[in-house]
Amino acid sequence: MKILIVGKGGREHALAWKVKQSSKVSDVFVAPGNVGMKDIATLVNISETNAEELANWAEANHIDLVIVGPESSLVAGVADQMNAKGIKVWGPNQNAAQIEGSKDFAKIIMNKYDVPTAVHQTFTNTADAIQYLEKVGVPIVIKADGLAAGKGVVLPTTMDEARATVVDMLEDNRFGDAGARIVIEEFLEGNEYSLMCFVHGNKVVPMVMAQDHKRAYDNDEGPNTGGMGAYAPCFTADSDETAIAVKTIMQPVADGLVKEGKPFTGFLYGGLILTKEGFKTIEFNARFGDPEAEVILPLLESDLVDVILSMLTDGEIPKVKWKNEYCVGVVLASEGYPQEPKLGYPLKNVKADGVNNMIFNAGVAEKDGQIISNGGRILVVTGSAPTFKEAKANAYAMMDQVSTEGTFFRKDIGHRFKEK
Ligand code: AMP
Ligand code: GLY
Repeated sequence: MKILIVGKGGREHALAWKVKQSSKVSDVFVAPGNVGMKDIATLVNISETNAEELANWAEANHIDLVIVGPESSLVAGVADQMNAKGIKVWGPNQNAAQIEGSKDFAKIIMNKYDVPTAVHQTFTNTADAIQYLEKVGVPIVIKADGLAAGKGVVLPTTMDEARATVVDMLEDNRFGDAGARIVIEEFLEGNEYSLMCFVHGNKVVPMVMAQDHKRAYDNDEGPNTGGMGAYAPCFTADSDETAIAVKTIMQPVADGLVKEGKPFTGFLYGGLILTKEGFKTIEFNARFGDPEAEVILPLLESDLVDVILSMLTDGEIPKVKWKNEYCVGVVLASEGYPQEPKLGYPLKNVKADGVNNMIFNAGVAEKDGQIISNGGRILVVTGSAPTFKEAKANAYAMMDQVSTEGTFFRKDIGHRFKEK
């Protein structure tokens, strides 16, 4: 089979690496990919959001399966274009991808199908918003409704801060149009987990649960980022916790999307908080998490292509096997990330062994034969082992060889891990 992966980050590198191991696969292409993947895949110079050109290329090159990585591709209609040409695609169409693209749509679905989530209200008017704040008190969560590059979420702990945030967003337009509507949401207390499932219509098959680290610096301090590191499993795929999260959250949402005429196909990501009352949802994503993919895929024992093909076959529910191991992934970021990453530093040419360690490349480029940093998140180093402690030690031993001038990384990935 010839497989096309759409995207260019560490997640897509991990997908290409995993797909490459399938006995069914002869060729792996990544569009546009990055130079750090070229040992394992052929790079195709088409933007990940140019849906029409991607579909034309896939048709002309007889691609058997397309796996879509980022949300931007889904929103741009890559899956719709592939479907229109009868090309097998793993990723939701634009309609179903709304579960990520519109916070409002996600809340409507969750409320309609009784999926536990934070209580919320939406406001465009400052006086109404402040009146509501006085009623519910702090701590509270205030979110710009539109996309604000991950910076549109504020978690005030005092009423003064809460009022100021509302004024800032609604009156002073801190987030421009994205903040013209705000969502005020119940603050959920508890640990945060990422649950990815393989979903096709009503079929929902969970993966191992992972934990991301969103803040830039150690001890969860500093600004929010796309994710600075992750580990898995927090709960195994066959644990009671995962079964409950599927039953109360992932399955009802998949079923709800079918009922709404927007059936979902692809990786469905539930951002969950384990509260005293059980799992509650803070958001859905219509794609694999990044850096979650980089720590979950090394733990997948089954052939990823087999799993996807049987998900796409009517009736069949694949048995998905997981290794009895842990995987810890640490992001190497550019100094100044997320606000103003400094780019263009030469990177060390370090090779991972693929057994205990992997390096998945994201923001890298080539200049005069030298690999240089070219993005906020440069790469992810992973370590795998039978125990969490060894996996973490493996990852950090590798990171010591990889990290270099102009970069930084968190030293405490997995600090919430508890031995069971
Ligand atoms: P988001 O951009 O929606 O992923 O939110 C960014 C981060 O804010 C999340 O990863 C959580 O850590 C935190 N967060 C968002 N919503 C809530 C909530 N309702 N309760 C507690 N923390 C939240
Ligand atoms: N790691 C968080 C995300 O992919 O959205």
